[in-house]
Amino acid sequence: MNSSAPTKLSPRPALGFSHASRPVPKTVSEFWTSRQRQGHSLHEISYRACFKPQLPEYFISRLTNSGDLVADPFLGRGTTPLQAHLMGRRAAGSDINPLCIMLTRPRFAPPPLDAVKERLHEILGMEPREQSPSSTVDSTVAGVSDEGASPDRDNLLAFYHPETLTYLLMLREWFISRDQQGSFDGIDDWLRMICLNRLSGHSPGFFSVRTMPPNQAVSAESQRRINESNGLQPEPKDVVEIVMKKSRSLLRSGYSGAHRLPFEESLPAPILRTTSASDLNYLGDSSTDLIVTSPPFLNIVDYRKDNWLRCWFAGINADELNVSGHSSVTEWCSFIRDAFVEMCRVVKDGGYIAFEVGEVRKGEVQLEDEVLRAVEDLPLVLDSVLINQQEFTKTSNLWGIRNNRGGTNTNRVVLFRRAD
Ligand SMILES: C[S@@+](CC[C@H](N)C(=O)[O-])C[C@H]1O[C@@H](n2cnc3c(N)ncnc32)[C@H](O)[C@@H]1O
Repeated sequence: MNSSAPTKLSPRPALGFSHASRPVPKTVSEFWTSRQRQGHSLHEISYRACFKPQLPEYFISRLTNSGDLVADPFLGRGTTPLQAHLMGRRAAGSDINPLCIMLTRPRFAPPPLDAVKERLHEILGMEPREQSPSSTVDSTVAGVSDEGASPDRDNLLAFYHPETLTYLLMLREWFISRDQQGSFDGIDDWLRMICLNRLSGHSPGFFSVRTMPPNQAVSAESQRRINESNGLQPEPKDVVEIVMKKSRSLLRSGYSGAHRLPFEESLPAPILRTTSASDLNYLGDSSTDLIVTSPPFLNIVDYRKDNWLRCWFAGINADELNVSGHSSVTEWCSFIRDAFVEMCRVVKDGGYIAFEVGEVRKGEVQLEDEVLRAVEDLPLVLDSVLINQQEFTKTSNLWGIRNNRGGTNTNRVVLFRRAD
């Protein structure tokens, strides 16, 4: 990624936002490009409503220096901390869903690919063992428990050929028992992330029959309907080849096969936690130089539902996740205000918060204005509201359902400077 010498932003005078001064000025431009391929390949793990790496890159390059701490309290797939790390900054992040650490952490320390292949053969060469759906997982990611998380086999067979399902159950059982034994290592971490990413999707490169994109698992019932109306049947998949192909693809932007990425040597490991954005206890007061983040946009995305298959595989009980989703703007404002109070605690005086909100309800609700209202009394200076206008390229029309329905096609970022 080209991060060469962007102009540093110097602190601007307060725009003095208040109800009286609204509407606030908004700058509409193509601040960062929409050409996804320009990002580092390590980012290519799909996640609902993730932002492109160019968004955090834009702010990191202009507002921080090497070694500064960059954080994201609504981590998702980890775009902000990974980009920060790739740019030589210290990285931190958290999410209410433990799945997000599983998707993020392994990409900070990719293992050698021959070790990944060897481990896969070791796991799949084993005899299938009986599943123990009620066993509790003492996971390396806090908040993981297998209780009540298992869908029945018939439902899984709507997605997978019986042979593929056997392999997936072996892999799942391996990860869970390695966790219990305390022997879960970086190779397991990488493998689990790739498997989570390949569970279901819309092309042959996934373990499932053809379905919706990987960040949006449909219910087993919907999948049966999709199969019936399209004459589809799950076919056996080459699990090893699919995993290795995705591993190679993730590493194609620059990875020499060594254990550590070159820039990692001088950087501490990222701090990644499962916690609510209103309780960032892993970050000290005035410790953070920049936050680049995006919360759930009202209740546009149901992160519990969309991630049910991934949560099952990971041993997370999706029903117990306290993922926020608010249909009322007032409730949403109160939720993000709590997060802002905590962000104000951890961000240094003179540090920045770039808060991205999507375009929702066809532009009827301008969440950026609501953000301004919600944080009016906090020690923040409004720097700018940036609307990134981008070509909307991704419209997959599958099974007559438009993938971008009710979705987001502009990035709207409110940039604040922390000031006492
Ligand atoms: C828009 S996504 C973030 C996507 C992220 N920027 C990326 O690039 O992947 C919002 C995230 O907020 C998380 N979330 C929902 N409620 C939360 C809460 N109360 N505290 C922390 N995270 C929460 C969801 O699990 C989801 O991963």
